[in-house]
This record gives sequence, structure tokens and C-alpha cells, in this order.
Amino acid sequence: MPVPGPGYSITIRLEAPPSASAAGDLTGAVGRVGGVITAFDVVESHTDRIVVDITCNALSANHAQDIQDGLAALPGVTVRKVSDRTFLVHLGGKIEVNAKIAIRNRDDLSRAYTPGVARVCQAIASNPEDARRLTIKRNTVAVVTDGSAVLGLGNIGPAAALPVMEGKAALFKKFAGVDAWPVCLDTQDTDEIIRAVELIAPSYGGINLEDIAAPRCFEIEARLREKLDIPVFHDDQHGTAIVVVGALRNALRVVNKNIEDCRIVVCGVGAAGSAIIRLLLKQQPADVVAVDVGGVVHGGRDDLDPNREWIAANTNRNGLTGDLHKALVDADVFIGVSAPNLFGADQVATMTKDPIVFALANPDPEIDPLEAQRHAAVVATGRSDYPNQINNVLAFPGVFRGLLDAHAHKITDDMLVAAANAVADVVDAEKLNASFIVPSVFDPHVAPAVAEAVRAAVLQAGA
Ligand SMILES: NC(=O)c1ccc[n+]([C@@H]2O[C@H](COP(=O)([O-])OP(=O)(O)OC[C@H]3O[C@@H](n4cnc5c(N)ncnc54)[C@H](O)[C@@H]3O)[C@@H](O)[C@H]2O)c1
Repeated sequence: MPVPGPGYSITIRLEAPPSASAAGDLTGAVGRVGGVITAFDVVESHTDRIVVDITCNALSANHAQDIQDGLAALPGVTVRKVSDRTFLVHLGGKIEVNAKIAIRNRDDLSRAYTPGVARVCQAIASNPEDARRLTIKRNTVAVVTDGSAVLGLGNIGPAAALPVMEGKAALFKKFAGVDAWPVCLDTQDTDEIIRAVELIAPSYGGINLEDIAAPRCFEIEARLREKLDIPVFHDDQHGTAIVVVGALRNALRVVNKNIEDCRIVVCGVGAAGSAIIRLLLKQQPADVVAVDVGGVVHGGRDDLDPNREWIAANTNRNGLTGDLHKALVDADVFIGVSAPNLFGADQVATMTKDPIVFALANPDPEIDPLEAQRHAAVVATGRSDYPNQINNVLAFPGVFRGLLDAHAHKITDDMLVAAANAVADVVDAEKLNASFIVPSVFDPHVAPAVAEAVRAAVLQAGA
């Protein structure tokens, strides 16, 4: 059951009578409608009234309104203003550009800008590779979207996608010191997106594609990888795959199974599921069975696009047909990146002994995690209010840190595998258990470990 969280945090400024019971009356009114108070500040005090800021977490915008109404209904209370703390965080955007150098006088100016800068330009003109040493290309990534598959919101367009891209850029900086900049393109045409990214590429050391809908995202990524001499990474695909494969490595350690012996069901073969399957196949599991909205993916289906044709050709060794429930029978692992509430505890009971269930559909997973726990040995979700949160933040900052530090020109599957192993190995044997298969997103060891693994893989590949 969802609980009030900081995503819907509000601060209500109100006037109340200065009575001895004021604080109790106010907090009681919030508690009665299920709000969770996180701060109570008296900001003004007068003989006839007090002015109070009550900050509390709610479940939704409607719930926030209920809290406000509950307070306003108290005798003598007047609500002055309600601030949505999430909107306050976004006022004017969440990132900015800062100069790394001081420009205090004419000397500084003539080195940072003309005439001095001209010699640096000439050096790059005669040796373009120097751009990675002498410009922001060294540390800068474009976060490119067309706004077509933003969070669970769908196709909301490039301007509405910007708050997400800004957030992504802030995470790049916070976790790995990478300067990332949102590039929200006003087109959803594959050729135009590719051309636009190609045209802006000289300024960047890497391209992070974000929230671009499947199947268009596959072609865009593949063609950009062909064209550009910098790494191109679609986080919804590969960031997810890295964390899932890393988490699975640790989950298998918990249940003492080898991936070579495991039958893995992957439900959802969109952006996330397809990349997960490709990375899983590198680990040589006994079998992978893919399922989408049309049931088990197999070569006999006549509705397959090129992506699912590839999946049909490379998975499902026994030619299974049917639905998800059938695929789950005797499976060792379920990985869901599809849709909410597709099965229950009864289906988990049909899996092998000590099954692993990763139900990652957001915000509501394929199975209620509490249901899954009735029979599963390890359960993971995408949610922050359950243990084992599969969160891409564990991967993308360190991946790009490593790529930029190694001056990588491309990214390979071996680098993704190295990143997945690094995420897993941050959880050492003393900490590993069924409720702790991935490190915390705030664990400061994660990004450096991933970066080092990716850097080493780049150097090994000579990429
Ligand atoms: N870290 C995470 O937790 C994480 C990461 C990536 C994606 N996700 C979640 O995974 C889901 C899919 O993301 P995506 O970007 O791959 O989306 P997508 O739209 O590209 O793909 C969705 C896939 O789910 C399948 N599907 C839809 N309904 C289904 C059903 N009833 N039964 C079986 N399959 C069904 C579709 O056929 C498609 O293959 C979303 O809920 C997303 O939030 C979670």
C-alpha cells in the first residue's frame, strides 16, 4: 500500500488562535486525513494569533487538498498559502552553467577569450582529437530526448520532458561529476533525430539517449553508433540492463544458483526488456523466455517486428508458446519490465524452488511485492519504498565517468557487463542477503567502482 512521500510534500502557511491546544489541533487535523507531518514551524507570534508553517507529505494532489481542507475547517484557522515543495524545487530549472575560471581583468580575458583562445582553436583544427583535452568535450554528455516515452507519462513532448532531463543532468553531476546538458528535440522523426544529434555531437564526449519510445529508439541508437566517434548509450535500455543483470548476479548468489542452470522469463520486450535480454544472453543462461502483450515470443508468431524477430531467434530453446502464466511454470527467475498486476502468488508457486522475482513495472509492479514474497526467495522492484530498488542511477553516472575518462569512442556489450559486475560487487559477501542485493543509490562507492570497471574495459577493447 502506498504511503505519503516527499514527491507530494506541501508547506501550508496558516493563522491559528494562540491557544495551548493549537499545535495538537493542527497536527491532529493533518493526521486524521492521513498526512505525515515532517516540520512544524511557528514563523510569527502575536497576542491574538500565531502564524505556522506545516510541512507534510501527502499521497497525491487530491490528498494534499484534503489536508488543506481539514486544517481550514478548524475553528479560528485561516489558510494563507500552500506551497508545493516539488514545484518550488523546479522554479527556474534545476541546473546552471558555471565558469571554471575567474575573469577578473584584461589579462584573464585575453587568455580565456580573444586573442589567446585563437591559438587553442588552431591547435584543435590541426588535431581534432585535442578537443577532448582542451574543451568541455572532455567531460560533457548530451541528454537527448524527443519526449515520446517520458517516465510513465507517455508521449508528452520535448518541453514537458525537460524537467526529467534536467534531473538527469543533476544526477550525472552529483554522482560522477559529469557535466550533462538536456537536449530536447522538437521532432519525433527518426531521421531528423539522428541528424540533429549528429550535428551537435562535436561539443560532447558522449550521447545519453533518454525516454525515446521503442521501437524507434533501437534504430536511432544503432545508426548513431555507426555515425559518431563518441559513445551512444540509451539509458532506458542499457542503464536498466546493467542494474538488472548486476542485481541478478547477487540474487543468484543468495539462492546459491548458477545462471547457466537458470530458465529466465523476461516479460516486456520494449526498450528495457530487449536490452535486458541481450545482456542476459551474454551470461549464457540455460534459457530465456520472452513474453510481451501478445504472449510468449516465438518464431511462429506473425506479428514480430525486427527486434522481436531477433529475440525469437535467440531465446526460447524449447519453442514454448502460450501466455505468461504458462512461461512461469518451472522458471527460476522472473524479470518484468511490462505492465502492472499480471500475476499473483499462485503463479510464483509454480516456479522452481527459491524463485527470484524482479517486478519492475512502474509505478505498479507486475505482482504486488508482498504477494511475491509469499513464495519467492528474492524480490526486487523499481520502487523506493521496498528493499532491492532497481534504479538506473546505480549505472549511468559511473558508466559515463568511465567512458569520458578513457576518451572512449564507442561503447560495447563487454563494457556493459563490466559495469553490471561492478554494481553487484559493491555489495560484499558480509552485506549480501535477500533484502540487499543492490547497493544504495547513495553509496559513494558505486559510481567510482562502475567508472573504473568501464574505463578498464574501454582500455582493454582499445575503444
Ligand atoms: N529501473 C526500473 O525499475 C525500470 C527501468 C526501465 C523500465 N521500467 C519499467 O518497465 C516498464 C516498461 O518500460 P519500457 O521502457 O521497456 O516500455 P516499452 O513501452 O518500451 O515496453 C513495454 C513492453 O511491455 C509489454 N507489455 C505491455 N503490457 C503487457 C502485458 N499485459 N503483458 C505482457 N507484456 C506486456 C509490451 O508488449 C512491451 O514489450 C515500465 O513500467 C517502466 O517504468 C523500470
